[in-house]
Order: sequence, then C-alpha cells, then structure tokens
Amino acid sequence: MSSRHKRTRQPADLRSARWFGPDDLRSFGHRSRIMQMGYAPADWAGKPIIAIVNTWSDLNPCHAHFRHRVEDVKRGVLQAGGFPVEMPAVTLSESFMKPTTMLYRNLLAIEVEEQLRSHPIDGAVLMGGCDKTTPALIMGGLSAGLPMIFLPAGPMLRGNYAGKTLGSGSDAWKYWDERRAGNISEQEWFGLETGIARSYGHCMTMGTASTMTAIADAMGLTLPGASSIPAPDANHIRMSAECGRRIVEMVWEEMTPDKIVTPASVRNGGTVAMATGCSTNAVVHLLAMARRASVDFTLDDLDELGRTTPLIANVRPSGQGYLMEDFFYAGGLLGLMRNLGDKLDRSAMTVAGITLGEAIADAPVYNDDVIRTLDNPVYHEGSLAVLRGNLAPDGAVIKPAACDPRFHVHKGPALVFDSYPEMKKAIEDPDLDVTPDHVMVLRNAGPLGGPGMPEWGMLPMPVKLVREGHRDMLRLSDARMSGTSYGACVLHVSPESHIGGPLALLKTGDIVSIDLPNRRIDMLVDEAELAARRAAWQRPADRFERGYGWMFAKHVSQADKGCDFDYLAPGFGRTAGEPDI
Ligand code: FES
Ligand code: MG
Repeated sequence: MSSRHKRTRQPADLRSARWFGPDDLRSFGHRSRIMQMGYAPADWAGKPIIAIVNTWSDLNPCHAHFRHRVEDVKRGVLQAGGFPVEMPAVTLSESFMKPTTMLYRNLLAIEVEEQLRSHPIDGAVLMGGCDKTTPALIMGGLSAGLPMIFLPAGPMLRGNYAGKTLGSGSDAWKYWDERRAGNISEQEWFGLETGIARSYGHCMTMGTASTMTAIADAMGLTLPGASSIPAPDANHIRMSAECGRRIVEMVWEEMTPDKIVTPASVRNGGTVAMATGCSTNAVVHLLAMARRASVDFTLDDLDELGRTTPLIANVRPSGQGYLMEDFFYAGGLLGLMRNLGDKLDRSAMTVAGITLGEAIADAPVYNDDVIRTLDNPVYHEGSLAVLRGNLAPDGAVIKPAACDPRFHVHKGPALVFDSYPEMKKAIEDPDLDVTPDHVMVLRNAGPLGGPGMPEWGMLPMPVKLVREGHRDMLRLSDARMSGTSYGACVLHVSPESHIGGPLALLKTGDIVSIDLPNRRIDMLVDEAELAARRAAWQRPADRFERGYGWMFAKHVSQADKGCDFDYLAPGFGRTAGEPDI
C-alpha cells in the first residue's frame, strides 16, 4: 500500500527547523539541550520530528501495552528517517476515573493541542483507544493542524469464565442483575471478575472504545483497518511500526488533517458508527470532532444516517454473540466498509495516502454471520435514533436495536429522581411503587448537572421488577450511558435539567410518551401547568467552585453540540498561530 502523494517539502521547510536551524542564541539553546540528552546532529538535523503522544498510565489497563508499543512506533520513525520523541499526555482511564472521564475529554484535547503547538514537532502519532481518549486526541490534533495518525490501542481478547464467553460491560450488567436476583454465588461472581478482562487492550464489545476507533478508521485517521486488530496480536505491533514509518512520509507530503477530515469523511464516520451498532457516546464525540474540523454535522445528520444505514456488525451489545476478536477474524472494519458499498464516500482520503475506496477495494469477509451484508442485516435501521419533543427540544438519543421493541411506542407514568444516590437507594426497596410500564427518570446528570455527563443513563432496574423477571423498562435521563450498555434508555436529553431544560419540570406520576417511529419524546402535561412549574423552578448550585471543574462548568456546551468548550471552537477569537519567539 503506497501513497500516491509526492514529497513537497524540503528539510529547510520543516516546522522544527525554526527551532534548530537559525544561527542565533535561542537555537543555540535548543541544539545544546537536545545534545544534552546524548543526541548528535545526525539524529535530528533535517529530519521530521515526530511526537508520539502516549496516553499510557499504570491505572489504564486498556493502554498497558503502550509502554512497549511506543518503542515500535519509534522503530518505524527511525527507519523512515525521522526523529521520534515520546510525549506523555494525561490518560483517561474509563475503569478508574470518577465521576467520569467525560469531564476530562476536553482537558486531554487541550493538552494535545498545546503540546504539539509549543514544541518543535512536525507530525504526531496519537496513541489512544480507551473511550474518551480517541475523540480527545483527535480533537486536539485537529486543532493543532499538524500531520497526524491515530494509533488505536486495539480491543482486548474475549472474556472467558467456565467455558462461557464474556463481553466487557454488557455481561457485567447482565450478571449483576442475576446476582441481585440471588442467582449467582460469591465464588461464581469472583470467577466472572477474573475472567471478564484477561488481556490488555480496550473493551472488546462494540462499546465506546471500539466504536470510536472504528469511526477514526472510517474517517481516514488510522492506517486502514487498524482499529480492528486485537491489542495482543502481533499484527498490532507491526501496525504500530507502520504508523511510525508513515507519519514521516506524511510530514514530507504535507498531509495535514484538513486534507483528511472533510464533510465526506465525517459522514463516513457517522455511517460506520450506525453500521457497527455504535455506542450512544459516539454522538457527542462525532459532533465535537466535526466542529473542531469546521465541518457542519448535526444530530439531524446522525438521525438520517440512522434511518438509512442497516446495522451489519453482529457484535455485542447491539448484535448477538460475537465480540471484537471475532470481528477481526471475520474481516474487520475493512470488510464491513466494503459491504457498505455506496453508502460510503469512497473518494475520502486516508492517512495512508490512498482513498478509502482504494483501501477497501479487495477487503475480504470471512464470516458473513459476523459481518453481514446490507440485505441480511442484524437490524434494518442503524444504531441510533434522535428524538425530540417537549421533554427534549434540542434532542435526545436512543438505541432502538438494544431495547425491547415494546418500548418503541409506549406511554407510562414517570418515576423521577433528582440524584443518583436517591435513585440507588429507592430501587433496592422491594415495595417501591413501580410497574414495568413506569418510565424511570434521572435528572441533574447532564454536562453541568453530573457534572461531566456521567454514564448513568442505563438506570438500574428496580429490584422489585428484577425479581418479577423483568429485564427492561423505559428509562430517561440527561446522562450518557456506557457503550456496552443496553435497554430502553433515552439519553442526552437537551437542554439538560440543571440549566432549566424541560426535564427539570417533570414530576412523578406525569405521563411520558415515546413514539420512536415519529421520533418523539413528550410529557403529557399541559402548557399552563408547565409554565407554573417553570416559574417556580430554581437552578441547583454548581458542584465545583474552583479548579478545572469550575472552568468546565463555565465553558462546556450541551450534548447536542458535542460538549466541547466554547473557546476551543475554530471560529472562537483570533487563532493563536505559530509561536514566534
Ligand atoms: Fe477502557 Fe472500556 S475501560 S475501553
Ligand atoms: Mg465505556
């Protein structure tokens, strides 16, 4: 696979040459300090300097292998005549960070942008994969504007316990409900704990991580097909080295991200999201990434793609049975994209220097139960639908394929909770006044209310209903939910209740109506009553009064706009430009 692009830059044109080239005192300082580390001019002079942005940490199991993979990237950079420099960046560990990694997505994005801008860097390999790291790295990289390749961490191997396959997240929720119903012993529970995550790599269901890396791949930001390679597979090591080789060429070719991330590539990302049974989180991140690239892409575009793109990746949680390891063996994302045919804009460019069409032209599919064809889909529509109505004037999302079809058109009384602890306590009450027709509601869980819009949206089923044998009910919140979650959950209600969105006015006992075919979510409360409630409503206090959380609350946008900071939008203020001293 060789790039069709030509080298257009000479060593003197390199951005880093502005640091190391001039015969002046500052450059004397830069040169003497790089030599302080034992490098000679032969190491760096006239060579593209490649930042390898590494989000490794001892508390991010999804990125545990990055400590070694970074050496493979360096090997590739050196082979191609570049000078690799590793730059650690804050990791966002979905497994450990509270209240939610989403609070810190924009922090990593700023860090990447400013690291690349302030240092003598010509191009970057961005290493990520655990949920929010992918959009964060890409958002920062897009704003920095230097040639970049996203290196996806790759999914971990399938989980296994007592001969049964286990999927990240999805099976944890499933077995937890069984444990709450009294069907699983302590010993079995421990067996599940030891078996569900048994190699490095990100979650191996089609959760947020696999969805976002697939989107990055479809947008042309990874080496084609890289997102499907399991983390422990030797192919992953070779792919890492290839990222190193390729980024050096991209610098010479001036292949900046604006040549890759276009309206066509963003749309391809959206189409692939729908075809893979994407995490609902993809909505927020895709909107945010598009905005960083000044591409006009909205919730309505996603709903349209949802209506027209069948779900063809038979991977949990939207699909049945299979996991990312099976998906890779079946042909991976390249096979899936080939099956999407004309639904993708094949003229979109990839970091490999070839078009998406060229990348997928001969891609095989080895198992057509895992990677379906358009006329034999897992689900006839895509993974997401956007709802609007008097409960969500700016939109809300639901995953139709992941919920019991009886909730596609449904009316039921609301059971409203103002906080997660209040809800958590109530649902354990065996005498809670709740029926399977109730609509459970959690508010104050949005971008400001959560804060950071935590993944609380798959509200746990009340134990009373679980014991009666129910496993799904209609749930509604301004939160997000984990990409590995499932159920009839209406999420991302915008505007959120914390800032006075209509969800704030809902009361227990009000009738909530969902009409998925018509994309509606409403409360059947008359306008005069709502006006009275609105007049009496008081905004809750913000959670943070100092620090990053305070800044977050001042600048974060609502979910329908991607939850980015207002001041990071491309149109905000005068561009900082290049450092001039
Ligand atoms: Fe890292 Fe799921 S915890 S991807
Ligand atoms: Mg997740």
